[in-house]
Amino acid sequence: MHHRVKAICKQGIGCISDTAAQASSSSRTPLIVAACRYRSRMEFQEVITRRHMVREFASDPLPQRAIDRILRNAVRGPSAGFCQGQAFLVLTGGELPRFWAVAGETTYPSVRTAPLVIVPLSCKRIYVDRYVQQDAGWADEDRWPMPFWHIDTGMAALLMLLTAVDEGLGAVFFGIMPEEAEMLRSKFGIPADHEPIGAVAVGRSAQVDGPSLTSRRRPLAEMTHYGRW
Ligand SMILES: Cc1cc2nc3c(=O)[nH]c(=O)nc-3n(C[C@H](O)[C@H](O)[C@H](O)COP(=O)(O)O)c2cc1C
Repeated sequence: MHHRVKAICKQGIGCISDTAAQASSSSRTPLIVAACRYRSRMEFQEVITRRHMVREFASDPLPQRAIDRILRNAVRGPSAGFCQGQAFLVLTGGELPRFWAVAGETTYPSVRTAPLVIVPLSCKRIYVDRYVQQDAGWADEDRWPMPFWHIDTGMAALLMLLTAVDEGLGAVFFGIMPEEAEMLRSKFGIPADHEPIGAVAVGRSAQVDGPSLTSRRRPLAEMTHYGRW
């Protein structure tokens, strides 16, 4: 059994979907599917090293299982008090032109061919409710160390970016301007207590990668302070 799982998973790119498809069409046991479903395509370090913002996409739609996996991983992130005050507006197909009609000012026009846009939203109310219930002192907004709701949603966004890489896809996180957020709110029925922290466009990369930005990364030594600043 172990060998069969290994043999199927060794197919690399396409492993997750193809394996699932093969398993259902050729009546392989559900166990094999389960074993492969969470198997990564890349080594963790490779995912980290490969991740960079892609701003040019092929327009072909993504398999639903890739979208599902990106979203499933997004909600595996940490959250303050385990509040999980996030939501995700997921846009594909005919919904995308409605998105781009009011958003996208902060990124390149070439991003608009991406077949998937996910808008991660943070909900402050869930955090305030939870923390004030525990300790009334948290009702004072100045006492919050940081806007945990945005931090947690940012972590979810990073998990989506990394999962996209692991799926062999490209992705970019870009900002949503306040006026864009308002238009998105009314167009897509976003509740008043949910705030878009940005948007993530995902698709197959059509980018011919130019000079690496790696050289522009600040030296680690300049940014780290062992023991004291
Ligand atoms: C909070 C945040 C906001 C960003 N906003 C934009 C944006 O509006 N448009 C864009 O094209 N890229 C945006 N980026 C991507 C950054 O420009 C990018 O991460 C940075 O240049 C480093 O490149 P890399 O991610 O490819 O390593 C944003 C990234 C973050 C984390």
